[in-house]
Amino acid sequence: MKATFLLFFFCIFLLTPGCNNERKETNTNDEELEEMAVAKGDMISQIAQMALASKLKEVVQEEGIAEALKFCNVNAYPIVDSLEEVYNIQVKRASSRTRNPGDTPNKMEGEIIEKYSRDIAKGFTPEVKIIMDDDMAHYFKPIILSAELCLKCHGQVGTDLLDENYKIIKELYPDDNATGHNLGDLRGIWSISFKKDALSKN
Ligand code: HEC
Repeated sequence: MKATFLLFFFCIFLLTPGCNNERKETNTNDEELEEMAVAKGDMISQIAQMALASKLKEVVQEEGIAEALKFCNVNAYPIVDSLEEVYNIQVKRASSRTRNPGDTPNKMEGEIIEKYSRDIAKGFTPEVKIIMDDDMAHYFKPIILSAELCLKCHGQVGTDLLDENYKIIKELYPDDNATGHNLGDLRGIWSISFKKDALSKN
């Protein structure tokens, strides 16, 4: 009788939604935060990429490579500054073959770059990735070299990238390591870190 009574309570405990629900809620929260990080990261990186590509195209056509060299830097764009301010974030690019040494990857970014490179080598399309830690949601997105325009400054020296332009690049970036690329190569990643508690607010 006592055993049946205990079993009855045990069943009630298992069936009571309370505890399970709480666990489910935390999961949903994390899932929701991840979705928000993907949506905001996609939006921010797309705006930055579009600003950059359209300005580069315009300046390369109208004023030439030397002048356009100033415009492959995300910090050259007021719209990127505004997004950084609104979301209290830093919009960053990182690469394993940098032109600007400031774009050297940290440990987490380095691991993502390696993963994306492995994906490409296996013939997969690398995808957006979110890594959550206690306070932050880190957004990563591959930057694939997909336009002929990019080769004018990141392609093969002497053919895509004219020697005279490479000379200017070397003067500005003596440690440049961002040439020799082909279309389809991984050029780097977008890296945006959101504070979890701010993600759901704006
Ligand atoms: C007019 C020359 C020029 C063109 C065209 C150009 N870039 Fe760049 N790229 C640069 C310069 C200069 C830097 C370093 C900017 C800085 O100081 O932050 C750079 C840096 C980068 C970086 C950051 C990593 C690093 O090496 O420091 C990425 C990613 C990148 N370029 C991708 C692209 C892509 C993709 C395209 C085509 C849409 C492109 N670039 C077209 C000149 C160019």
